[in-house]
Amino acid sequence: MDASSVHGKVGCLVENVLLTPARIGSVEIKNRVVVSSMCLYYSNKNGDVTEKMISFYEKRAEAGIGAFIIPANPHGENKRARGSLADDSRINQWKPLLNILHSYGAKIFNQIHPSGIQFGRAGCVTSPFSLTTEGIASMIESYAQGALRAKKAGFDGVEIHGAHGHEVALLLSELLNTRKDRYGGSLENCARNVTEMISRIKELCGADFPVILRISGEERIPGGRTIERSAEICLLAEKAGVDAIHVSAGMPESEEWECPPSEIEEGHLAWMSGYLKRRLHVPVIVVGRIVDWRVANRIIADGEADFVAMARSVLADGDWMRSIGKEDYPLRKCIACNQGCRTRREQNKTVCRCLQNPLTGMEDEIVIGLDAVGKKVCVVGAGLAGLSAADVLSRRGCEISIYDKKPEIGGLFRLASMPPGKSGYLDVIEYYAKVLSERKVVFHLGAPLETVPEGAWDLVVVATGGKDFVPSIDIDEGMNVLSVESLFAKERLEAMEYVVVGDGLVGYEVADYLSQKGKRVLMVGNDPRDPVHLLGVAKWHFMKARFEKAGVEVFRRSTVSAIGREGFRYVDSEGREGCVKGSYEYVLACGYVADERAVRSFMKEGQQTLVVGSAEKNGDAMDAIHGAFEKALAVTFE
Ligand SMILES: Cc1cc2nc3c(=O)[nH]c(=O)nc-3n(C[C@H](O)[C@H](O)[C@H](O)COP(=O)(O)OP(=O)(O)OC[C@H]3O[C@@H](n4cnc5c(N)ncnc54)[C@H](O)[C@@H]3O)c2cc1C
Ligand SMILES: Cc1cc2nc3c(=O)[nH]c(=O)nc-3n(C[C@H](O)[C@H](O)[C@H](O)COP(=O)(O)O)c2cc1C
Ligand code: SF4
Repeated sequence: MDASSVHGKVGCLVENVLLTPARIGSVEIKNRVVVSSMCLYYSNKNGDVTEKMISFYEKRAEAGIGAFIIPANPHGENKRARGSLADDSRINQWKPLLNILHSYGAKIFNQIHPSGIQFGRAGCVTSPFSLTTEGIASMIESYAQGALRAKKAGFDGVEIHGAHGHEVALLLSELLNTRKDRYGGSLENCARNVTEMISRIKELCGADFPVILRISGEERIPGGRTIERSAEICLLAEKAGVDAIHVSAGMPESEEWECPPSEIEEGHLAWMSGYLKRRLHVPVIVVGRIVDWRVANRIIADGEADFVAMARSVLADGDWMRSIGKEDYPLRKCIACNQGCRTRREQNKTVCRCLQNPLTGMEDEIVIGLDAVGKKVCVVGAGLAGLSAADVLSRRGCEISIYDKKPEIGGLFRLASMPPGKSGYLDVIEYYAKVLSERKVVFHLGAPLETVPEGAWDLVVVATGGKDFVPSIDIDEGMNVLSVESLFAKERLEAMEYVVVGDGLVGYEVADYLSQKGKRVLMVGNDPRDPVHLLGVAKWHFMKARFEKAGVEVFRRSTVSAIGREGFRYVDSEGREGCVKGSYEYVLACGYVADERAVRSFMKEGQQTLVVGSAEKNGDAMDAIHGAFEKALAVTFE
């Protein structure tokens, strides 16, 4: 569903739908917006509720979120991924968080989310299929005891996590469940763990204590469950007393559907919630790429769901609620890159962050105050690094002039929006354009650094980006070898066959771009990181499928040594030479290096200077935004 299709629809009436109250069982929620469960890694290693958790959720509650679904372990090891309710001693530590969220009128549900026995995830090998029948019964009891502790802590209800790949989801799966007892085989048996869990929670916590079931409406694995069978499970859950269904998608093998990348349309699961709503009597919550408030409104107004849930949209902007009803609100729209919130979190073992919002996960540590009012700052380079520095410094009260040699702001990130499915990446630039104009930042575009007036700058920020790294390749005279920038600048791509030299992040993006333009593409490079590492699971899943369809060939661990009219030569990791014949056009995507010449020209004696982004060190968009943010926040003025 695309945001433009709902633009211009009776603003006020549609808006009111999203902001009307609705019930989940006995609990009234003040509006239709729910934050779905997220393992944020904001707990400490003991799984305690921390200040970081409290500040993160409080910011979103203050903005007006209707309900939060917050994960906690009912059993299993306590870990930093989420808080714990694994024993009674843990109940009290939840109270300060829940009291604060309640004070803003939000309702809070605990997602009973086990740790340590999530088969199929994080290397865990304990399968719910190897447990005895009594083992399953005690697992169910443990979930129900977790729910009781949640109730005692002050949660308004619970959510059973039957989506994605945890033990409940595996037992629910007619395809994967290999049990031969009452918890496997028929659909009723596969659903039994959930129906018994619902009944037991109601028994322990009272019939009016709401229970939500989260389910993957489609498993999206070969032979996996589709929405029709999921509806049958939901009907059984409804019969057992469930108060709402929350529909998501995917299993561990199809993780790309749990947090889909930017090529997947906004509100992509609304058709599933619509289907469930037509079969069920209880309310249905839908999640999945809900970014624009108009899309959210439309889902509710069209009766496709009773509540919209979102995870990444509120990671990208804690003030998401404040965008509702506004035509031109400066929202940091989640671009579904997964870079900060999932890929880096996993790879670098960091807490959950957001590529475009350095404040996410830092709400307890960073307060930006007006401590530099009237300081005159010149930012040279309006790429992401320059814009991010200008963002912080303008919040601090500085008077800012930005210079860029190009006629538009955004730098290289404009090119990042050109490969398939990435047009939404322009929203990151759009955000800066809006907030910086609001703060009266003056833009001088088409103005190279020579035009920057020398003068009384309290600070000069050098954000001129890097220059192309050109490896030592023997190139025949007269051969046309393109840079990435010159390739994207071309209105027409004359050649039919391209060799992309370089298999880093940008190399893959360029190969994707060219192949989707109908070109035959060969990519050669020696980046030691594999594509999943570079691009993340979800993005690579869809790109790989496009590569396979378009016949993109990838020579990894190979270095191009010579380029000529007849073809190119390369050396593989074993030192073996090879030669590929053909008449290709070549694109060099070998990374960027700091442009010291540009930087040096500002390093004048007595001039306070910051060098940020790729002008300092080659990196990706997150490095540029976060690095510049941190430096601009730390800089002191006399
Ligand atoms: C095709 C492509 C896809 C990408 N995809 C992703 C992605 O999915 N995720 C990701 O994290 N990163 C991605 N990147 C990388 C990302 O775009 C860069 O890391 C990031 O934009 C660097 O920002 P920067 O501000 O440091 O530099 P730049 O974006 O290079 O900005 C520098 C700015 O300085 C200006 N400038 C330079 N010299 C002068 C001068 N002398 N005078 C005035 N102005 C000057 C330039 O015009 C430019 O606007 C991609 C890059 C490309 C090319
Ligand atoms: C950082 C992160 C952690 C998540 N952790 C959980 C979790 O603990 N339980 C769960 O059911 N889903 C989890 N999810 C999935 C989200 O709840 C949500 O279904 C998914 O991100 C799609 O919604 P979105 O497009 O609004 O992000 C997580 C997602 C993210 C980004
Ligand atoms: S890191 Fe990317 S996907 Fe994650 S919340 Fe931020 S913009 Fe969205």
